Amino acid sequence: MVNELRAVEWVGDGLRLIDQTVLPGRFEHLDVRDTGTLVDAIRRLVVRGAPALGVAGAFGVVIAMIEAERQGWDDAERDAAVERIRTARPTAVNLAAGIDRVVPFVPKGVEAVVAEAQKLLDEDVLGNRAIGKAGADWILARAGKRPLRVLTHCNTGALATAGWGTAFGVIRELSELGALEVVYADETRPLLQGSRLTAWELEQVGIPYLVQADGAAASTILRGLVDVAIIGADRIAANGDTANKIGSVGVALACADAGIPFMVAAPWSTIDLSTPSGAGIPIEERPGDEVLAWAGNPVAPEGARGFNPAFDVVPARLVTALVTETGVLEVSEGVTPRD
Ligand code: MRU
Repeated sequence: MVNELRAVEWVGDGLRLIDQTVLPGRFEHLDVRDTGTLVDAIRRLVVRGAPALGVAGAFGVVIAMIEAERQGWDDAERDAAVERIRTARPTAVNLAAGIDRVVPFVPKGVEAVVAEAQKLLDEDVLGNRAIGKAGADWILARAGKRPLRVLTHCNTGALATAGWGTAFGVIRELSELGALEVVYADETRPLLQGSRLTAWELEQVGIPYLVQADGAAASTILRGLVDVAIIGADRIAANGDTANKIGSVGVALACADAGIPFMVAAPWSTIDLSTPSGAGIPIEERPGDEVLAWAGNPVAPEGARGFNPAFDVVPARLVTALVTETGVLEVSEGVTPRD
């Protein structure tokens, strides 16, 4: 089923999103035909994951163009709506990159922008296949033991991308090669992308997995139960510092201490060469309520205040390898522009 999963899809006159807030209990779509609904969907994480946000942003420009026509907006009003989409979440650079990719096509009309956004979507799926293959090859060339036990954090599968997945794509490739024993899926507090989404995707494709509390990850690694950790990224600075879901840095520190590889898998579009280091990456701070309650039930006393950074930055020195669609970089020296 995951093969056919499309987190983001253009369906004739609008955008169709898988509503990731209700998985795994329900599988529902949200149809988007105005920019206000799209901005809200991005903020609520109906659509999420850096590459999926890039594709949603690109199609969001089409939504803004159609809405402008419908509402009689002038170009400035349309551009302001696009800007609201661009800034709906700050950390994943792909959101702005997806929009920037299609904006030059706006003067050519809706069909041209749809075609370019679709091209971005198709390239993402192909790129993810390449990432999966390059990442698996790199790991297997170094693996002392197999089948492998892999730890991952957050969700990087078809739901987080245009299809197949990044870190999840490497895991799928290892599985298809018969080189995978089990995946430790960190639950990924507070919104549970690991237990709700990654575990659901692993279940769909029949890959053995264990869901563990985020707090278990370092211990699982230090106990020698993990051979490699693979995560995705929301933004990679020019020096290789990598922003990803909160909790990633703890996984990286444990890998460094245990002497196992910590791999980041992401499309080239997640690399932001205009940001020199992780210190310049904007980290989204989400409402404290998300850590104080689950499904409407309090998990902290009344009066408690929440602290809820959605991402952290893994210093480049802790990243053993960065795998993109163009191959594997060992990033301790930073990322150099391609070509
Ligand atoms: O807050 P989210 O769910 O959008 O965070 C997503 C992540 O941190 C992913 O690991 C990252 O975007 C890579 S998705 C291929």
